Amino acid sequence: MNSKPPSLAPANISFFNAHPAPDDCHKVILAGLQAEPKTLDPKWFYDAEGSALFEQITALPEYYPTRTEVSILKAQRDSIAAYCGQGSVFIEPGAGNCAKARLLLDAIKPAAFVPLDISADFLFSAAQEVAAAYSWLSVSALCADFRDFLSFEQHLPAGRRVLFYPGSTIGNLDPQAALNFLEQAVSLIGSDGGVLIGVDLHKATDRLEAAYNDAAGVTARFNRNILRRVNDLVGSDFDPDAFQHHAFYNETLRRIEMHLISAHDQTVHISGHDIDFSAGEHIHTESSYKYTVDGFSDLASSGGLRRVQTWMDDECLFALHYLEPMDR
Ligand code: TRP
Repeated sequence: MNSKPPSLAPANISFFNAHPAPDDCHKVILAGLQAEPKTLDPKWFYDAEGSALFEQITALPEYYPTRTEVSILKAQRDSIAAYCGQGSVFIEPGAGNCAKARLLLDAIKPAAFVPLDISADFLFSAAQEVAAAYSWLSVSALCADFRDFLSFEQHLPAGRRVLFYPGSTIGNLDPQAALNFLEQAVSLIGSDGGVLIGVDLHKATDRLEAAYNDAAGVTARFNRNILRRVNDLVGSDFDPDAFQHHAFYNETLRRIEMHLISAHDQTVHISGHDIDFSAGEHIHTESSYKYTVDGFSDLASSGGLRRVQTWMDDECLFALHYLEPMDR
């Protein structure tokens, strides 16, 4: 099962491809669109086009989370390093281009860096760049599903484990799934490990809504792109221009909800099935939960983790938490 390393890989890198089982996308997409209300799984956002649009979102003036988290990582790297400890195995699920981990590597001096992603596309080239830039560091790139840790556990280098999960990606999970993620994290890191996690903070509705409704319309394009992607995946005939982007803060559930609203009555065809939309009907494409520091502490406790330290920016827009298992 060991995948072939790309040629000219530096000596300080290893690759393993656990070949995470692809979902049956026909079944999953159809079930979501036949549900009431209609939904599409946000994971379909991230094809090459979607990933490029997301890169643009992170640079938008209204979209504060990325630049705020980066500023915290830069300003607090020594303090963060003191909590993470040196010589750890530093594991990042969904590592992408590894840019955020690279802000910390010199300070936390891990024994090994483990970028982990379900998609091999960018993973192996980004990991090679890290290995080339940090010759003292051993890099183990794993193409695997984080939720299936038996599929990759034996490929983790030995050492104390620190899990890095930036970007408020945990906020894209509903609370039960977020809890499952944290429980999974505890079983991965063991009693002596740690979790360094970025979480967007609950705040005034207009600030949040602006971040997901940028004036340039990039988030709208990103949201509509999911329909083009679904067409590619299952041969459906969505007209992305016949749907409007709608994002709002649900203050009760403390989550941004992204929807696509059908501009008029229409029928979309998917492998022999008719999906009827009435004018104004929504497809829920993604949620982004926002947490207070105490709210996230409570969630972490339910998952078996204690909040040990929190770093924030001056405006308290975004939080980076260091968590440890309760039973240590
Ligand atoms: N996790 C981040 C957030 O919820 C990034 C993100 C995921 C995002 N999907 C998005 C940002 C869609 C904008 C639009 O903010």
